[in-house]
Amino acid sequence: MSSGENEKSRVLVLGGTGYLGKRLVKACLRLGHPTYVLQRPENCMDINKIQLLLRLKKHGAKFIEGSLSDHESLVRAVKQVDVVISALSSSDISTTATQLQLKIVDAIKDAGNVKRFIPAEFCIDPARMVHDLEPAKTLNVRMMDVRKAIVEAKIPYTTVAANCFAGYFLPNLCQLGTFLPPKDKVCIFGDGNAKAIYLDENDIATYTIKTIDDPRTINKTLHLMPPKNILSQNELVEMWEKISGTKLERSTMSAEDYLAIMNGANPIIQFGISHNYPIFYEGYLKHFELKEGDEEATVLYPDVEYTTVEEYLKQYV
Ligand SMILES: NC(=O)c1ccc[n+]([C@@H]2O[C@H](COP(=O)([O-])OP(=O)(O)OC[C@H]3O[C@@H](n4cnc5c(N)ncnc54)[C@H](OP(=O)(O)O)[C@@H]3O)[C@@H](O)[C@H]2O)c1
Repeated sequence: MSSGENEKSRVLVLGGTGYLGKRLVKACLRLGHPTYVLQRPENCMDINKIQLLLRLKKHGAKFIEGSLSDHESLVRAVKQVDVVISALSSSDISTTATQLQLKIVDAIKDAGNVKRFIPAEFCIDPARMVHDLEPAKTLNVRMMDVRKAIVEAKIPYTTVAANCFAGYFLPNLCQLGTFLPPKDKVCIFGDGNAKAIYLDENDIATYTIKTIDDPRTINKTLHLMPPKNILSQNELVEMWEKISGTKLERSTMSAEDYLAIMNGANPIIQFGISHNYPIFYEGYLKHFELKEGDEEATVLYPDVEYTTVEEYLKQYV
């Protein structure tokens, strides 16, 4: 089955009940694509997921039953669509996330009809995050393994470098251990001048769906770099103080002290620190430039009115 030339691609989202996945499903429907969500039998006792699926159905989503541990069911599922997007959790420190993504690659390879696959990355481009800090190092290597498998299977793909999710980084002014704004104190990492890029998760979904029928992004990485959302931590803190009318007491943390938090910390904090260190201390954007095989989303899709950091922060006042 394949859709006609002028029709929008039919899309299957895996991980459609997830934090990003549900936004991808909604964006897909909003942009007029016939949209399918993989309904996993393993979720039959998860009342929140079932209720969420019903809400997505009201928006127009359809379901295809299938399990990541049942290859034939996955092949049947992907055969019904043109585009597959994986929004599976990839921050799993175990190998599970990679294994699951490789199962999707196998199914797409066997189905043989998919015009575009977007694997679960949606973070800082793993090809550029070459550093030695575990566990982030291993996760980057695993994402690159999935890319390699996609290329070897000759599956047309786009990878999305979504940088920092707003909900995880903005309200807390990049502090660890909370997703809410600090009340009186804020810790500045190093000199606080390293820039990072922040994206509203709904905009990540919109840009991702915009790219799926776009020949300019085939076999490329789409970088999401909204110019107004490239800010240093110092700029972010000042912006929040202005919006909220508060003044925060600043302390600074050296690179050594930041890394020392990892000792004995839980795996989520360890992942956060190893992932964030290159952002805040090494300034990963300092030498960043688009290379062959890269495209930038706000250049390709200037019609998307992205949410600025300032607009995003205002929700938390
Ligand atoms: N750049 C950033 O700041 C940032 C922050 C967070 C996430 N991300 C990225 O965003 C993407 C999605 O992450 P997320 O936080 O939205 O994920 P999530 O909500 O933790 O999980 C997404 C979905 O993955 C599926 N899933 C999880 N474990 C599974 C398992 N063992 N077997 C089968 N399916 C499983 C479930 O889908 P169903 O039950 O619906 O099938 C779940 O709803 C990832 O690539 C992640 O790296 C980036």
